[in-house]
Parts: sequence; C-alpha cells; structure tokens
Amino acid sequence: MPLAPTLTLNNGEKIPMLGMGAVFLDADGDIQKTIDTAIEAGYRLFDNAAFYGNEKAIGTALKNNGIPREELFISTKLKNGHHRFDDACRECEESMRRLGVDYLDMYLIHFPCPEHGLYTEAWKALEHLHKEGLVRNIGLSNFHETHIERILDICEIVPVINQLEIHPYLTIEPLREYMKKHGIVPEAWFPLGGPTVMLDGRVNPDKATLLSEPVLVKLAEKYNKTIAQIILRWETQCGIIPIPKASSPVHILENISVFDFELAEDELQSISDLNKNCRFGPSGDDCNEYWD
Ligand SMILES: NC(=O)c1ccc[n+]([C@@H]2O[C@H](COP(=O)([O-])OP(=O)(O)OC[C@H]3O[C@@H](n4cnc5c(N)ncnc54)[C@H](OP(=O)(O)O)[C@@H]3O)[C@@H](O)[C@H]2O)c1
Repeated sequence: MPLAPTLTLNNGEKIPMLGMGAVFLDADGDIQKTIDTAIEAGYRLFDNAAFYGNEKAIGTALKNNGIPREELFISTKLKNGHHRFDDACRECEESMRRLGVDYLDMYLIHFPCPEHGLYTEAWKALEHLHKEGLVRNIGLSNFHETHIERILDICEIVPVINQLEIHPYLTIEPLREYMKKHGIVPEAWFPLGGPTVMLDGRVNPDKATLLSEPVLVKLAEKYNKTIAQIILRWETQCGIIPIPKASSPVHILENISVFDFELAEDELQSISDLNKNCRFGPSGDDCNEYWD
C-alpha cells in the first residue's frame, strides 16, 4: 500500500501527513493484528503518550512486526505532573524503555497545566533531550497562544508541532493562524470527533451528529468516499496532521485512503464553516490535572 505523503517541519525533518492514534488501541481487539494491519496499510506515524498506559504494548507490537525502526515515526508525550527538568528527562527515558526504542521521533508536552507554571522548565528538558540525540523533534500539545508565547520567549528551539483537538466543529482558526506565523504545524486529536464509546460506556452523541452532517454527506456522495474520509481529507488539505485511532481493519484502511482525491477550495470552506467552537475534550487553558 502507498505510504501517507510527508510534510516538512520547521527544522527540515519530515513527518507523515496522517498517523495512528493510541487511546484504547490495545483495549479494542488484538493489538498485534491492529499494528500489523496499520503497517500493511501504510501507517508509519504512531502517536502515543505515557498517560495512555499502552506504550509497552504498542512498542512490542511494532517490534514484533519487524518493520525497520528507521521507517517508523514514533511520537509520545510527557505526562502532566512531570514538568520539572530532571523529572521530564527521566520520564522521557522511561517512555523510550517502555516503547523499546533508543530514540524518539517526537516528544510532546501533553498539557501546559498553566496553574502549575512549569511548562517552560519542561521545554528546557525537551531541548536538552533533543541535544542529547534522544529525541529528533520536540513539540507541544494543548498549548494555546499565551502558552506558546511563553515558550517562544525562552526557547532555543521552536516547537515543530502543537497537537490539539481539531475537527469540523472546532477549527481553532485564529490559533492555527498564529502557529503558522511561527512555523508550528497543527496535529489533530479527536480528528473524527473522538471515541465512538466514551470512557463511561455511553455512546458519544457529538460524534454521531458530526458524522451525519449534511454538508459532509453530500461531499461523501460526490467523491464516493465515507464521511470520515472527507473530514480527514479536509484536515490534511488544511495542513493539519490527523491521528485517527482505529482498531477496526475497515477503519484502518479507510482512514489512510484519503490521498487519491482533492476537495475544492469552496468545499474546504464549507467544512470549515461547520465550526461551532464546540470542544468535546479538555482544554489546555483549564486542564491542570496530574492524573498520576
Ligand atoms: N494530546 C491530547 O491531549 C490527546 C487527547 C485525546 C486524544 N489524543 C490522540 O488522538 C488520537 C485520536 O483521538 P481519539 O482516538 O480519541 O478519537 P478519533 O480518532 O476522533 O476517533 C476514534 C474513534 O472513531 C472510530 N473510527 C475510526 N475510524 C473511523 C471511520 N473511518 N469511521 C467511523 N468511525 C471511525 C474508532 O473506532 P474503531 O477503533 O472501532 O475503529 C474510534 O472509536 C488518540 O487515539 C490519541 O492518540 C491526544
């Protein structure tokens, strides 16, 4: 299967335009089968986080698959509550140990946790890890403009990525515009509106509404694609890297099969116009939880 095209980051490194999310990936079905199917389908970017508790399971499955390490783009995140310099460095090495790798392609600060005020110290740790050769690219997650400003004030290395909740109901255009000025690429979590079934076992009603939007239905019919594919194509054409999680083999294949058609400018705009500033998950402004 063809690989996803790549995008060049502000440091000249390349990253696949679409990746695989990790939340619940080991809980829904056979993780080895899921990873083998994803690699066969052309996925090379694998998102993770210490918080998800499945770095070991996914790292083992990647290793057992046998794909050469250098063909993969493995990304994980620093857990909240570990923003002190030494702690952040130790945590990164712990993630690498669990994943079974001797370097990471990307390491992100999971949340700024602004009440604790330590994310600039965490950034210094990420810069150190990069200089030591342990992490090839460093970036942010859930950082809003005020948090990014503080990072830009103190940084030697400009973040390459900021991973944020992004979907047609939450397009965060002003923040994306600000990031663009600084060469920071947006990566989308909840790119398809989040998990189908929530942590508490309830069906996610917002996702069902999103996946039946008439604008998207019409485009899906026009291009003979699914609504999920229309959303993922909109994201990639907007320069956003989506990381949809999929355990179903049909979804795995469907989600990466979005690079063989192109939405027109007015169609991209009609999807962007669905924005309602509607957030389904936690915001970087308010989330100060440590989750340990
Ligand atoms: N940085 C952060 O703070 C943060 C927060 C949340 C998530 N994330 C990352 O972002 C990733 C994506 O978010 P997410 O997994 O919560 O939500 P998502 O990718 O928007 O949606 C995943 C859900 O959609 C289903 N699905 C996948 N492909 C589909 C398709 N083509 N059609 C219909 N349904 C489809 C999946 O079902 P099946 O599994 O059954 O296929 C799963 O239930 C996470 O896995 C994680 O890596 C980061």
